[in-house]
Amino acid sequence: RKFKIAALVGSLRKDSFNKKVAETLIGLAPDNLEMEIVEIGQLTHYNEDLDTDTPPKEWTDFREKIKGYDGVFLFTPEYNRSVSGVLKNALDVGSRPYGKSVWNGKPAAVASISMSPLAGSLANHTVRQSLVFLNMPVMQQPEIYIGSAHELFDENGKVLESSATFLKQVIGAYAAWVEKNLGN
Ligand code: FNR
Repeated sequence: RKFKIAALVGSLRKDSFNKKVAETLIGLAPDNLEMEIVEIGQLTHYNEDLDTDTPPKEWTDFREKIKGYDGVFLFTPEYNRSVSGVLKNALDVGSRPYGKSVWNGKPAAVASISMSPLAGSLANHTVRQSLVFLNMPVMQQPEIYIGSAHELFDENGKVLESSATFLKQVIGAYAAWVEKNLGN
């Protein structure tokens, strides 16, 4: 069976390293994973007052879209030692209305990508904190902390061989994690 995976990228920057890593993993994914980036930058700040019978269309569209995926792979930059607002907002929007979260049970993985050698590890764990409450089984190993992200790619934007080896291992482990949780 093929599994559809939503990749959520917590940086909206055109040249985002998070986006580059997400695209690289999409390219390295095994045949049973169909992963694609789902945009989150269009989502209005979550506000319960707007979450009526007629919530903002972009929220409804996003919630419906995420329902069509089997798993979620989150890519987070570290902003001020935490998750970026845009990624947290997407998690919040998808989690409501109460009891109707679109995240429930979807096997997840979290990668933090930063230019700093600290590799956004605090942001990584901040995301994990929410995923516990959202009842998403999160892949534990390998942990995906990618530091010095600007050194991962050559001048043509192609990932270096040494990094590709690790990223192949990551996406292979995630495919196995999804299968283990959802059956093949
Ligand atoms: C940063 N950056 C950053 N890096 C880090 O390792 N720890 C941090 O706490 C922060 N804080 C922070 C705050 C804000 C507001 C910005 C804009 C940036 C640097 C950040 O990791 C760097 O810009 C990455 O390149 C962001 O990821 P993308 O955009 O390349 O995907």
